[in-house]
Amino acid sequence: MAYPQSDGRLEVLAGLTFEVADGEFVCVVGPSGCGKTTLLRLLAGLERPTAGRVLLDGAEVDRPRRTVGFVFQEPTLMGWRTVEENVSLPLEVARVPKGEARRRSRELLDLVGLSGFETAYPAELSGGMAQRVALARALVHDPRLLLLDEPFGALDALTRERMAQELLRIWRARRKTVVMVTHSVSEAVFLADRVLVLSPRPASIAAEVRVDLPRPRTPAFFDDPAFGALARAVRAAIG
Ligand SMILES: Nc1ncnc2c1ncn2[C@@H]1O[C@H](COP(=O)(O)OP(=O)(O)OP(=O)(O)O)[C@@H](O)[C@H]1O
Ligand SMILES: [Mg+2]
Repeated sequence: MAYPQSDGRLEVLAGLTFEVADGEFVCVVGPSGCGKTTLLRLLAGLERPTAGRVLLDGAEVDRPRRTVGFVFQEPTLMGWRTVEENVSLPLEVARVPKGEARRRSRELLDLVGLSGFETAYPAELSGGMAQRVALARALVHDPRLLLLDEPFGALDALTRERMAQELLRIWRARRKTVVMVTHSVSEAVFLADRVLVLSPRPASIAAEVRVDLPRPRTPAFFDDPAFGALARAVRAAIG
């Protein structure tokens, strides 16, 4: 993947190949600016690769699809819409009847722990709550694949740990396939079945670390020696 630039082109991803299995939870880590967001945008069909292909169930991803949900790195809630109206927006666009849209939005807000905040506005929410709304919105078409771009990046450490737990709960309950970018090595090892470490730009896969540790994972997992060893392996691969 290369972007055009005034003085040529910027190669962002090169020789990068990987597969994700159905139901797998994959975390992607790598240096800032190496191309992680670009990679997710390609997987989502928001961007077309200049060479190479992205396949979902064997079919080329050439445009955004409802089977793929996306939580962006920057908060993208609409300030003039309530929490529930933010979640139901994709359903409105898809002309889902109002009653049905309302039912589904409320169910998802319940899933992410935001019952009671349906009529609040984004400005009235904490950072963690706003990210929960973004997560609920990404789930609204019941996607098979969930793409998360540093969804907890702006949160404090404690909220972050709690959100990671919540995400695992939702992943278990809804049986999604997840590809999540994070800059936190411990978060990646805590959440993932597999951690992909990207090299500096142009990024390829520098290392792949399998996390063959039992689930469900609880905060006690952070004290497990096996956890420490895997986190060290990921750190070593980042260099
Ligand atoms: N739309 C675009 N047009 C041109 N260049 C872009 C575009 N989007 C990203 N880039 C460039 O591609 C490179 C990779 O950007 P990207 O946002 O994918 O990195 P990242 O790994 O997500 O970084 P971070 O960890 O800081 O979020 C950067 O050098 C960036 O300047
Ligand atoms: Mg990014």
